Amino acid sequence: MCNTNTEIQDQKKYIEKIKEINKTQKPKYAILTMGCQLNENDSEKLCGMIEQMGYTKTENPEEANLNIFNTCCVRENAEDKLFGKLGELKKIKEQKGTIIAIGGCMMQEKHITTKIKQSYPFVDIIFGTHTLHRFPKNLYKVLKENQKQEDILDIDGKIYEGLPIKRESNLKASVTIMNGCNNFCSYCIVPYVRGRERSREPKQIIQEIQELAKEGYKEITLLGQNVNSYLKVEKEKNKPYEQYKGINSFATLLQEISKIQGIERIRFISPHPKDFTDDVIEAIAKNEKICKLIHLPLQSGSTETLKAMNRKYTKEDYLNLVQKMKTKIPNLKLSTDIIVGFPGETEKDFLETLDVVKKVGFEQVYMFIYSRRKGTPGDKMENQIPEATKHERFDRLKQLVENEIQQNNQKYIGTTQKILVEGKSKTNEKMLTGRTENNKIVNFEGNDELIGKLIEIKITSEHMWYLKGQIK
Ligand code: SAH
Ligand code: SF4
Ligand code: F3S
Repeated sequence: MCNTNTEIQDQKKYIEKIKEINKTQKPKYAILTMGCQLNENDSEKLCGMIEQMGYTKTENPEEANLNIFNTCCVRENAEDKLFGKLGELKKIKEQKGTIIAIGGCMMQEKHITTKIKQSYPFVDIIFGTHTLHRFPKNLYKVLKENQKQEDILDIDGKIYEGLPIKRESNLKASVTIMNGCNNFCSYCIVPYVRGRERSREPKQIIQEIQELAKEGYKEITLLGQNVNSYLKVEKEKNKPYEQYKGINSFATLLQEISKIQGIERIRFISPHPKDFTDDVIEAIAKNEKICKLIHLPLQSGSTETLKAMNRKYTKEDYLNLVQKMKTKIPNLKLSTDIIVGFPGETEKDFLETLDVVKKVGFEQVYMFIYSRRKGTPGDKMENQIPEATKHERFDRLKQLVENEIQQNNQKYIGTTQKILVEGKSKTNEKMLTGRTENNKIVNFEGNDELIGKLIEIKITSEHMWYLKGQIK
């Protein structure tokens, strides 16, 4: 803890130095973030540091003195996007002289940083997932010494507390509770780019959420690649952590967070089905604030495919878990992630996935076409599925999911839902928008004073991706 504190203090000095440089100017920055909410949360920390340095945010990269791209590499299309973006930034740099910083998960891949250095030498800063906190120092070196910076660590980063943060919303906040992943699902790059699993200290998490509650935040989403194994590694490896309010697991963490006054909704992503213990199910059932929409990634409905994916559960295990959860948690809804076209997936395997989708009746399904990732076991498997088959299966899954969602939406019509009002609708100035406990978007006519409140809305119609309603 001490070491990380000194390091953060050191970075704060660089923040001050840059602020001094920027004193007479009004510099702007633009940031583009790809990937999951963990990356978005990292970007909020970057924004926090950068705004303390005197930069203000712009959505227009052309007018930014500093352009940052926080990358993701979970699927292949991300690479096309990075290199496209770099071409665009090159032009801006030539015309206006912007500083270009590229960070995030993709920078942990050696073949990518090599390519950037060879083919895109105009990039000023390359930083990885373990060196985000050192951004002030790296930027200072570019500003002061005009030196290109590459700051990537191959080891597991420590957890740095006390970084400034500039959040996207003033109502809903993400709180990262753990970094890294130890599961090595055979399709997935995340463990290689985010390092091994490590949990934040219970006290730090609780204090952060208490602060958020004081600032008026109503909804918290706890983030981690495997949230229900919170503190598991620490306990197994006897790594000391500070005792705080008896928190020693994900279930006890959820219970303590539920006690924080002012926080009305608690969500979390993503749990792993193999680690979904009874105490967590009980904590969800017992605490009203924990939203009864649980994201439970399936990936495949075929036991064979799940084995090849190294998911460590079978089709039956998953369905039994769902059954148990539905019995113990009244009104439970589930969402999930599914990959189609994993190596070796047969038509029969794929039909098993469709079968689980039909049996569970998900509220939402995030569907992905399998993408080969360099360095993962999946990439080395010989029985890769032809692109056309992957797409054909994806379309069939999508059709089924959309039918199910539409049917499910019908059930909402006529019901009364509690909505957290988030703001004005983006498409219609006169309408307000909010979300139900099940994360469904609801648009309705109402007064701006309702923003930030939890109110009751009667649902009047459904429109596939959102519902419409009236104030009760
Ligand atoms: N840790 C989380 C999510 C990780 S990434 C979990 O285990 O659920 C988010 C989703 O991307 C995964 O759930 C998976 O469905 C998808 N995904 C990961 N690697 C992929 C790949 N190589 N190809 C296609 N989809 C992938
Ligand atoms: Fe990837 Fe699996 Fe870890 Fe999720 S649990 S991040 S899918 S390796
Ligand atoms: Fe992507 Fe990294 Fe998240 S690879 S999905 S941004 S952890």
